Amino acid sequence: MQDAQPNRRSFLMNTTAAVATTASLSLIQNAHAAGSDKLKVGLIGCGGRGTGAAEQALTADKNTELYAMADAFEDRLEESLSALKSSPVAERVAVPKDRQYTGFDGYKSVIDQCDVVLLTTPPGFRPLHLEYAVEKGRHAFIEKPVAVDATGVRSVLASCEKAKTKGLSIVAGLCWRYYAPRVETMKRVHDGAIGRLIAIETTYDSNGVWDPRKKRDEVKSEMEYQMRNWYYYDWLSGDHIVEQAVHGIDTMGWAMGDVPPVRCFASGGRQARIEERYGNIYDHFSVVYEYEDGTRGYHNSRHWKNAFSQVKDYIHGEKGMCDVFAPKITGPNKFAYRGKKTDMYQAEHDHFFASIRGGKAVNDGLFASRSTLLAIMGREAAYTGQEITWEQAFNSKQQLVPTKFVWGDLPTRPVPRPGVTKFV
Ligand SMILES: NC(=O)c1ccc[n+]([C@@H]2O[C@H](COP(=O)([O-])OP(=O)(O)OC[C@H]3O[C@@H](n4cnc5c(N)ncnc54)[C@H](O)[C@@H]3O)[C@@H](O)[C@H]2O)c1
Repeated sequence: MQDAQPNRRSFLMNTTAAVATTASLSLIQNAHAAGSDKLKVGLIGCGGRGTGAAEQALTADKNTELYAMADAFEDRLEESLSALKSSPVAERVAVPKDRQYTGFDGYKSVIDQCDVVLLTTPPGFRPLHLEYAVEKGRHAFIEKPVAVDATGVRSVLASCEKAKTKGLSIVAGLCWRYYAPRVETMKRVHDGAIGRLIAIETTYDSNGVWDPRKKRDEVKSEMEYQMRNWYYYDWLSGDHIVEQAVHGIDTMGWAMGDVPPVRCFASGGRQARIEERYGNIYDHFSVVYEYEDGTRGYHNSRHWKNAFSQVKDYIHGEKGMCDVFAPKITGPNKFAYRGKKTDMYQAEHDHFFASIRGGKAVNDGLFASRSTLLAIMGREAAYTGQEITWEQAFNSKQQLVPTKFVWGDLPTRPVPRPGVTKFV
């Protein structure tokens, strides 16, 4: 399959080749090879996922220590530190008070002092944090999604390209790509087990996530309110189609060999979760992606409480079907995975640290950026009510994230209205 509409402007989106090796590259690559030196690991964004990622990182490589931590809020950092201090890796959690950082700039102090960083804040900050990490020559684990808008996606792509020239490993938290049963099944799909792909159906219908964690009278500013309740603000989470359903959308991208679609159209809205405390995001999306080769991708995602929920992906081909979650393939080349069920969260860190120690940098930047943009593209098609091409999505000028972070007032973008909200 060919990339859709390659041109100079979409160069970064279509770049797949590794960047040439340079003398400085091999020097950096070998710096941590063969487990010869202790790696200082830094955690930025000490919530549920970050705490888990820190434990997995330290489990993946015994010659590591958690050296510094940053969170916007002291209480979140303390909770995470205390959980890690009672975890199986506790003896390698070495973060004294003077290496605990809070506020918006703490990420710099952590990155400055560590060899490997775990970027697990809400995704609005990912491009900024990754840019600094790569500039400083750090290996980075980047949680999904990697951005909330096209401006952020382009920044992440540029950082990941730069990481290649420096021999740095970048592993993304699109964890299903590290789940052995799915890897094995997807390989068969790619090898033609179900024939030419006709349609991919991805559903992420859930009851939603946590309710707003703080009320306005419990915080000091609007910025703190939004940061505490980050899920419900577009600039922080990218909306649930980007923050959560990106897993299913990534499965579609993966099945399609990470070739972008030509265009998409969508519907969406805010029907069940309408109160002001739920910020400015939608509670349901429905997107149709159209690929150049005729394959169609159908995506649904909802955050509705007390409603039918399911998270499922199916790949339909001319000769059979793949039930991605089973995982199994039906049709003449039927297959059901019977091997070991692995821990995908641990596997991604095992892969990450093996690449660092082996002096062979890995880079998930391209597929993670493309899958994030696929989700953003669907969101924008729903928000605006317009058909959106991949080219438009990639070149969009949208920048939801403020350029300065201050603990003060912060206007909220109104809830988008299809036909009124403009694509930018
Ligand atoms: N791969 C997966 O299956 C998976 C699962 C859960 C979450 N995630 C992703 O992990 C990320 C974090 O999610 P979570 O569930 O851990 O959320 P969380 O709210 O538990 O943790 C996020 C933490 O980041 C902190 N933070 C926010 N802005 C910050 C900044 N500028 N600098 C430093 N710290 C900052 C918050 O205070 C909070 O403690 C999200 O991108 C989410 O999509 C991935």
